[in-house]
Amino acid sequence: MAITTCIFDAYGTLFDVSAAARAAAAEPGNEALAETWPKLAGDWRHKQLQYTWLRAITGAHTDFWEVTKSGLDWAMEAADLTDPELRERLLALYWELAAFPEVPKMLGDLKNAEKQTAILSNGSPDMLAGAVESAGIGDYLDDVLSVESVGVFKPHRSVYDMVGKRFGCAPDGVLFVSSNGWDAAAATGYGFTTAWVNRAGEPVDRLPWVPQHILPDLTTIPDLAKSL
Ligand code: LAC
Repeated sequence: MAITTCIFDAYGTLFDVSAAARAAAAEPGNEALAETWPKLAGDWRHKQLQYTWLRAITGAHTDFWEVTKSGLDWAMEAADLTDPELRERLLALYWELAAFPEVPKMLGDLKNAEKQTAILSNGSPDMLAGAVESAGIGDYLDDVLSVESVGVFKPHRSVYDMVGKRFGCAPDGVLFVSSNGWDAAAATGYGFTTAWVNRAGEPVDRLPWVPQHILPDLTTIPDLAKSL
C-alpha cells in the first residue's frame, strides 16, 4: 500500500539527544565533562528509556520531563557529578535540542511530495513544542502527537493507535521512522511500515519483530516513502 503518512520519533531521531551533554562539556567551567560527557549522555539516555518502560509496565505513568530528570540524576550520581547548576544547564540544553542537519530538507521534501508528516513521541507536549521551535521545523509538520494523550509510554499499542485516529490511515499506509531499534521493531509488530535510523551502527534488537528498512541517517526517507 502506498505511503500517505510519515511519522517520526522525536528524541534521537529528529533531535540529537547527545547534543545537551556535548554542548555543556564545551562551556567554560564544565571542564570536568570534557572526557566523561559521552558516558554521561549514554547513561542519561539509557536510564531515561528504562524508566519509561518500567513506568509503563507498572502503571506508574509520569510525564517524560520527570523521567528525563530522573535519568539525569542517576547519570550524574554515577559520574560523581553533584553541581546543581550543571544539572540545570543540562536540562535547559535538553529543552532546546538541535535537529540533525538533514531534518529540515527531508521534511520539506516529504511535504513537496504531499505526504502527511507528524511526530509521535514519548515527549510531553511542552517539551516537544520547545524542541520543534528551537529546531525551526514546525512548518513542515502536520501535527505533534504526544503520549500524554494516552498516558502510557511507547511501545504500548495505544500510542501507535494515535496515528490512525489522527490521520484516518491504515497502518500499512504509514512509514514510521525511529532511531530507537525497539521502537521501530514494535511498530513493525503493530503493522506500520518501518525504518530504523541506525546512526551508531548498533546490532538489531532481539525482539519478535525487526525494522523493515535500516538507514544510516534520514536523508533518503523521502525517496523511500515515494518508492513504497
Ligand atoms: C521519543 C523517544 C522514545 O521521542 O525517543 O518517543
